[in-house]
Amino acid sequence: MIFSDDGHSPHKPVMLDEVISFIKPGKGDIIVDATIGAGGHSCEILKMIEPDGLLIGIDKDAEILKIAGRYLSNISDSYKLYQADYVDLDYILNKLEISKVQGILLDLGVSSLQLDSMERGFSFIKEGPLDMRMDRSQGKTAEDLLKRLSQKEMADIFWRYGEEGRSRRIAKAIIQERKTGAEIKTTTQLAKIVEKALYVPGKYKKKRGIHPATRVFQALRIAVNDELKSLEHFLNNVCEFLASGSRIVVVSFHSLEDRLVKSAFRMGQDASSLEILTKKPLSPLDSEIRENVRARSAKLRAAERT
Ligand SMILES: C[S@@+](CC[C@H](N)C(=O)[O-])C[C@H]1O[C@@H](n2cnc3c(N)ncnc32)[C@H](O)[C@@H]1O
Repeated sequence: MIFSDDGHSPHKPVMLDEVISFIKPGKGDIIVDATIGAGGHSCEILKMIEPDGLLIGIDKDAEILKIAGRYLSNISDSYKLYQADYVDLDYILNKLEISKVQGILLDLGVSSLQLDSMERGFSFIKEGPLDMRMDRSQGKTAEDLLKRLSQKEMADIFWRYGEEGRSRRIAKAIIQERKTGAEIKTTTQLAKIVEKALYVPGKYKKKRGIHPATRVFQALRIAVNDELKSLEHFLNNVCEFLASGSRIVVVSFHSLEDRLVKSAFRMGQDASSLEILTKKPLSPLDSEIRENVRARSAKLRAAERT
């Protein structure tokens, strides 16, 4: 893990100004950061709500929560951190005897700390085990999935969660590799199999900026962590936790997530529970993308509880 010594979270929070301007944290507010990561957004929120407010930070990843705690504790002790799936927010609020909160943030996907940590297996840039679990204490790893799934199941995952048009060809190549008795254990091993499967002599051109294995890695990560199920379930119930006039902000990083957010907000608006504040999703400014290329696919949507 990479630490910064300047008192700031080492994760560059995406669309920080936009997130803060929609959530509008005020002194004394209770705000939930449901995907706190290394606390990039939360450090700013905490400064605005302390000393009487409460920041509730949730993350599935125990290691990253420790980092968030280090940065938050430099600011104030008006926070509580929970290692959990954000779908368990009702349980957490019950425990704290809180019924409504003044703001909820979801900044989806993985943090750059997780991506850069080779032993977590989220990225094929460096060799690492094919793990990809956000919560390393439970569940199947990406390696387990590749060992156990049928060719069709694998192709479906690559197609559904990665929107990978050549999903069948890639799944076939993985099964062929399995048949040779070789175990697919590392990120770079998988990336090479995908690259080879997509290679067509004379035709193949690598799309600028996108490695051929990008979509397969995204798909496996989503499958390993059941990410869309958590998001859909959470969004369907989020209105229960929001006080009237409070806001939910969601930053998503691919169209599958954004579609779920758009549809949940529309349903909330149709039921007169939410007012949509962003007719179209906001994207980061060019200046932010220049500084942080990982922000380039971010889409922000916000809604207010009626
Ligand atoms: C993009 S990062 C958040 C970065 C954070 N906003 C910051 O500025 O440091 C997303 C975080 O959400 C966590 N996460 C993803 N899905 C989750 C879920 N269902 N429940 C809890 N945490 C989740 C990941 O482990 C990761 O740390």
